[in-house]
Amino acid sequence: MPRHKRQGLSRLTRYLVGHRLRVAGLAVVGVLSAAAPVAALLLVQDAIDEGMRKQDSARLTRDVLLYLLVNALAWVLQTTLVRGLASVGQSVVLGLREDLFDHLTKLSLRYFSQQKAGWIIARLTSDVDALSDVLSQGLTTLVVNTLTLLAAVCGLFILDWRLGLVALVVLPPTLILTRWFQVKSHAAFLRVRETISAMTAQIAESVSGMAVIQAFNRERAFLAEFDSANDANRNTNTYAQLLNSVFFPAIELLGLIATAVVLWVGGRMVSDDTLQIGTLVSSVFMLNLVFQPLQELSDLYGQVQSAGAAMEKISLVLDEEPDIRNEPGSTPADRIEGDVRLDHVTFAYGKEPVLHGIDIHVPAGGCLALVGQSGGGKSTTAKLVGRFYDPDDGAILIDGRDLRTLELRSYRRQLGVVLQDPFLFAGTIADNIRFARPEATDADVEDVAHSVGISRIARRFDEGLLHTVREGGAGLSAGERQLISIARALLADPRILILDEATSNIDRPTEILIEQALDRLLRGRTSIIIAHRLATVRRADEILVMEHGRVTQRGRFAELLASDGPFRRLASELEGAQLQGAADLQAEPVVGSRESNSARVASSEPE
Ligand SMILES: Nc1ncnc2c1ncn2[C@@H]1O[C@H](COP(=O)(O)OP(=O)(O)OP(=O)(O)O)[C@@H](O)[C@H]1O
Ligand SMILES: [Mg+2]
Repeated sequence: MPRHKRQGLSRLTRYLVGHRLRVAGLAVVGVLSAAAPVAALLLVQDAIDEGMRKQDSARLTRDVLLYLLVNALAWVLQTTLVRGLASVGQSVVLGLREDLFDHLTKLSLRYFSQQKAGWIIARLTSDVDALSDVLSQGLTTLVVNTLTLLAAVCGLFILDWRLGLVALVVLPPTLILTRWFQVKSHAAFLRVRETISAMTAQIAESVSGMAVIQAFNRERAFLAEFDSANDANRNTNTYAQLLNSVFFPAIELLGLIATAVVLWVGGRMVSDDTLQIGTLVSSVFMLNLVFQPLQELSDLYGQVQSAGAAMEKISLVLDEEPDIRNEPGSTPADRIEGDVRLDHVTFAYGKEPVLHGIDIHVPAGGCLALVGQSGGGKSTTAKLVGRFYDPDDGAILIDGRDLRTLELRSYRRQLGVVLQDPFLFAGTIADNIRFARPEATDADVEDVAHSVGISRIARRFDEGLLHTVREGGAGLSAGERQLISIARALLADPRILILDEATSNIDRPTEILIEQALDRLLRGRTSIIIAHRLATVRRADEILVMEHGRVTQRGRFAELLASDGPFRRLASELEGAQLQGAADLQAEPVVGSRESNSARVASSEPE
């Protein structure tokens, strides 16, 4: 057995820890239930040789009664074993699935952006199912048949050692055949699992991208791709079945040969009077007890191979080290002030850095805006502050402490994030808002929803905040999704709030409402706002222009507009029409009461 497979299996034994006593009990039951049919055959031999041939009717009666008793006992043992093993198997599957999901939630965004969603889903579904099949049904087959096989071989030698030796002539070809099958089918089943996961990945991608597929008339192309994945799956499956079709009949044939040899040699021994007829009869039956389990085991072998291959795939996920984790010696951040400093941060998703030595300082309670061309590194900066990634060089300091030394959960609890592509879960609008703080009361949720203007859009729905949202936020407009995710971030009562293009799809009047709410709710809290709209960043204490992963300009809104630089270029490119109105503001101080600021912005907006 290859080394990695043993690792996979030993990984499973971990889930048996709580069931040691049960497993030990089942092992005893297993041995007894395997011994039962062998004992029954020994009784048959005794009944024929000692009872019938010697016309000892008392012995015959005793043997028959014992025969019935042993078989009744075997039946009880077998039922107990099947039930026990199935429940042990299922608890292993339960533990594994739990661990797998738990591990997934710990993995960083880097992992999820590299791995296809369908591939990951296949690990938790079809792979775990393959294991589940083996563990619930297969485990019983494995245990019962292995033990029966061993017991039957022993029984054969107990009946007559010479016949036992004769039967062994088929052992070498059986071993060779089995080994061949093992090697071939292992590779085949690995491929089967690969094609299954390729298919799952393809389905998952198509389902989530169906609108685009249909919009660009790519249905046929996707169907063709799916067909080829499907074909590949059929081919590997057919090949695996071909292996079966060679192997199983061959094993059966070997069984027949062994029986024939035993009959022939045994028959001669009976004629020579060195063997009793009952022993021969029982031996032939006993051979059945050798070859039938052998067949069932080989049948199971496919399943086990499949499960082994599945376990290898599952191990790939379980062995993935979460790159964002609590460093040893990290301490909880009880209440952070919100002073954020990026100290010469360099970061690369792959090889090429996308941030080059970024220095940023946002004092506690400050509001920083990031603007700049697409792909400039704004979202990346925000994600680093959210510790979805760690910088490759430099450090992020929160209240002067390296972010890596803050206990992750305690930090994230004080963080509110609205990502560029907000995600909503299936449930009501209220559920989605409450996601940030499950213990929040209905009143809290309504308050925050009202403050950012969701209640205005919720009025459109009969059930208001109880309107049901489908997975990913389907059924809502992009702006509505953003509103809900802003409310969600605010409900978290964050010390640091990150808004990545959070209001880009929201109409300006509603955005002003949100800004007023933010001014009120975020007093004394730090915020980092990423936006393309000038109006949105106007209220920031400092604006940073990011281009190609570098900060190319920084300053206040009015200062930036006054000087000839990237910001002015950006401004005229982005909203040239607005520039005139914005230029009017230059003379006025940008900071001051935010409330009046927003109000002024509101009145000066033409939209
Ligand atoms: N998950 C990722 N894996 C690899 N590269 C990435 C990933 N996310 C972003 N990048 C790359 O990093 C660079 C910066 O991306 P980022 O998302 O930070 O830009 P941005 O300034 O937010 O742009 P936009 O204004 O379009 O949102 C881009 O070149 C992008 O291609
Ligand atoms: Mg972005």
